Amino acid sequence: MGEFTINKEKVLQALSTVEEPDLKKDLVTLGMIQDIEIGVNQVRFTVVLTTPACPLKELIRRSCETAIHEHLSPDVEVIIKLTANVTTARQTGPLIPGVKNVIAISSGKGGVGKSTVTANLAMALHRSGAKVGIIDADIFGPSIPVMFGVEHMQPTITPKDGKNFINPIRQFGIKMMSIGFLTPPDSAVVWRGPMASQALKQFFADTDWGDLDYLLIDLPPGTSDIHLTLVQTVPVTGAVVVTTPQKVALADAVKGLSMFRQPQINVPILGIIENMAWFTPEELPDSQYFIFGKGGGQSLADKFDVPLIGQIPLVQSIREAGDEGRPAVMDTNPIVNDAFRDAAESLAQQVAIRNASKNKTQTVEIQV
Ligand SMILES: Nc1ncnc2c1ncn2[C@@H]1O[C@H](COP(=O)(O)OP(=O)(O)O)[C@@H](O)[C@H]1O
Ligand SMILES: [Mg+2]
Repeated sequence: MGEFTINKEKVLQALSTVEEPDLKKDLVTLGMIQDIEIGVNQVRFTVVLTTPACPLKELIRRSCETAIHEHLSPDVEVIIKLTANVTTARQTGPLIPGVKNVIAISSGKGGVGKSTVTANLAMALHRSGAKVGIIDADIFGPSIPVMFGVEHMQPTITPKDGKNFINPIRQFGIKMMSIGFLTPPDSAVVWRGPMASQALKQFFADTDWGDLDYLLIDLPPGTSDIHLTLVQTVPVTGAVVVTTPQKVALADAVKGLSMFRQPQINVPILGIIENMAWFTPEELPDSQYFIFGKGGGQSLADKFDVPLIGQIPLVQSIREAGDEGRPAVMDTNPIVNDAFRDAAESLAQQVAIRNASKNKTQTVEIQV
């Protein structure tokens, strides 16, 4: 290229032609380009994504490379490091100061797979490089401890700044607290609403969560005092509604969705996850049997004008893994892994879109 020299300004100019597809602004305006270094016939820079689970990361990487080649030089070597800085819309408050996003996982009906979806979304987000926690707030059936194989564990207490803090249980890289840890397994403790609400408040006020990108709340089915307690205790980034394609489940999901839109709750709906969307036998991985009906999740999403962020098939190993104390995505069934990874990425994407206009905080390294 003769006298032509590449400098940082020219790199920024070239990258300002690349739009972040979700946020509809260019990467330079969004402050996503950092650490530009110019070498001999080489350009290096870092792209700071809004989540390590960004489904568009390869697209963004390629667009950056193309922009440098088109605007600066077709021969220059482009080395891009992708990192992420999960965004938050929260003002730091006295409760859970290090938690960037609180995500309510709800369902209209019990048994639709809310806890299974919560456990596997948490694992999939963790695998992308995010810091993840779970609060199991389902007083009617706290199943997160069993699904993570920690039902006999007891959280410990540590004094900190003159106050006693509960340490969440840590399993497979996920921090978790459950109403189930407060009662002996197999005991028939009947929780009254106020007791459960008090326990949930403790999970926020007295638990040492540290820094988390996503804290998922496994709520009781339907609508309850717990839902109200949640939104009154901490700012909630948004809610996910889990349903099966079955008519009765969809009808109950409608109630759940409407509840989040009531003025006194007013939690944005990040999307719908259709669980048990179809049955796929392990030995016939390309077959889909729509045993609970077809297209229900999509039509519900259309009706409420929210995205369908995932469709999870009914697979025997999902149930088996859960019963054996590990989220199914830890096994190597590609059908299961792809479904939960896609759902986790779509969720993270919706969180990023929701937080788009707000300030950013720390950086996490992506595991590639
Ligand atoms: N996609 C799925 N494939 C197979 N079994 C599933 C699936 N989702 C949930 N299950 C099973 O269905 C039962 C109910 O799921 P669970 O997550 O406990 O529902 P909820 O929390 O909504 O009450 C569990 O035994 C679980 O293992
Ligand atoms: Mg459950």
